[in-house]
Amino acid sequence: MQLPIRIRLSIWYFVIFSFAGLLLSAASYYLARRSLYLELDHELGEHIDDVRDFFRAEGLGGDYQRERAEIAAQFQLQDEGKWLQIQDDQGRWVFRPWRMQIAPHDVPLAKSLSADGNYAEFPAGTKRIRSLRRSFTVNGHTFVVESGMTLTKADQTLLHFRNGLLLISPVIFLIAGFAGHLLSRRALDPVAAIAREAQRIHDGNLQTRLPQLETRDELAHLSSTLNEMLERIEAGVRSVRDFTAYASHELRTPVTFIRMETDLALRFDRSNAEYREAIAMIDAEALRMSSLLDSLLFLARTDAGAESAQLEPVNARKLCLQACKKWNYQFKGRKLLVSVPAEPAMVIADKMYLPRLLSIILENAGKYTPAGGLVELKLEIMQEFARFEVHDSGIGILDMDRGRIFDRFFRGSNVQEANAHGSGLGLALAAWIAARHNTFIEVSSTPGKGSCFSWVLSLTREYEQNPSDMELEAHRSHQQGPAALFPIG
Ligand SMILES: Nc1ncnc2c1ncn2[C@@H]1O[C@H](COP(=O)(O)OP(=O)(O)OP(=O)(O)O)[C@@H](O)[C@H]1O
Ligand SMILES: [Mg+2]
Repeated sequence: MQLPIRIRLSIWYFVIFSFAGLLLSAASYYLARRSLYLELDHELGEHIDDVRDFFRAEGLGGDYQRERAEIAAQFQLQDEGKWLQIQDDQGRWVFRPWRMQIAPHDVPLAKSLSADGNYAEFPAGTKRIRSLRRSFTVNGHTFVVESGMTLTKADQTLLHFRNGLLLISPVIFLIAGFAGHLLSRRALDPVAAIAREAQRIHDGNLQTRLPQLETRDELAHLSSTLNEMLERIEAGVRSVRDFTAYASHELRTPVTFIRMETDLALRFDRSNAEYREAIAMIDAEALRMSSLLDSLLFLARTDAGAESAQLEPVNARKLCLQACKKWNYQFKGRKLLVSVPAEPAMVIADKMYLPRLLSIILENAGKYTPAGGLVELKLEIMQEFARFEVHDSGIGILDMDRGRIFDRFFRGSNVQEANAHGSGLGLALAAWIAARHNTFIEVSSTPGKGSCFSWVLSLTREYEQNPSDMELEAHRSHQQGPAALFPIG
């Protein structure tokens, strides 16, 4: 089972803090012991130096009996004489106090002179002795000296120190536990507060935000990131709600109209011509509804990520001519001009989406241009790009609407001037298609005079998958001809 993070943090604090405390205690114990022993060793060395200096000052080294008597007189009663032994080069004891004679120690004085500078520890009764052994030469005679000191005082000091450490260890553990608990609480309280607030947020109060922390740390960053996420979710939910509301509203209108027409047609007897007229109106509404449904489904699929563009070489010239041919029939009363290069213009595009984009823009141009007006589609080749331009002499777009015409369901404030139906989805789809082609639609417009929608696509030298023979022929011939500008139809 996974423990809560607060408990785990406390345990971690406790373990690390205690471990550090124990490590510190062990290190300070070791350092104290080392400095005590260093001091002791220094004193032992000084004792041996004193003996050597005494030998030199007294000129000892020749007469064994004299040496014994003088050294005994000098060191017998001194403190350092308690654990001092001196041997001459023939292995005879020059000085050896009674303590050493009765103390059964494991480190007998070395016979060999090479055992110079050795430290040893050995028990002597209830005591422990630390000794240093060195040799020196006076008047051609070598003496081995071993000086010792009891470790009682040093051991006592260390014992007190260790007891003290053992005594404060529980205090260290207690502090570690308490500090761990306190720190984990301090660290996690804001997280708990954020979680509490977050729990209160649901789809009904998505505008609520988490408290903004002033600490400028990771938690403040977390709460601001969550707030940004909430903002995005709120915008997403709002757009889905708006979308559903607009969609149902837009669909209700034609359905109501169709029902009214059928109701009227069924209620009274009518002439054939009147029935035809009613059916034609119903047909027009059904057509509108099906195009609306088509747009709605397409947008829903783009939102779900189910639509994706297949970019390949496409003949833009051919597409422009086809689009104009299609729309020219519907432009009743408006003139449609097309200007394309004389030879095929291969662009990188999706062969389903690009015609749809052209249709949306051309449909708008025709729809928002009053009878007698002019619409012009231009395809220009500019080095590595092809530029599509659709000009119209229509009602134009008001400045206040310019920034919103690509929003879903947005319709300009002046659309009634053109008496044009629509649901405000065309340009949202057009913008999505342009984005899939890594481009965007530029708009310039003068209200009352007309608009221009344009975008560019990359040109390619590759051929289309299935170009018509005629286009391929023209493409192969590479003939440089003037751009064609002619009315369609
Ligand atoms: N060529 C144009 N001239 C003037 N206004 C335009 C033109 N094209 C677009 N608009 C404005 O942009 C708005 C959005 O256009 P969009 O194509 O998205 O929707 P719609 O034409 O109103 O409806 P739909 O295309 O869904 O049938 C239009 O309502 C209109 O106000
Ligand atoms: Mg439109």
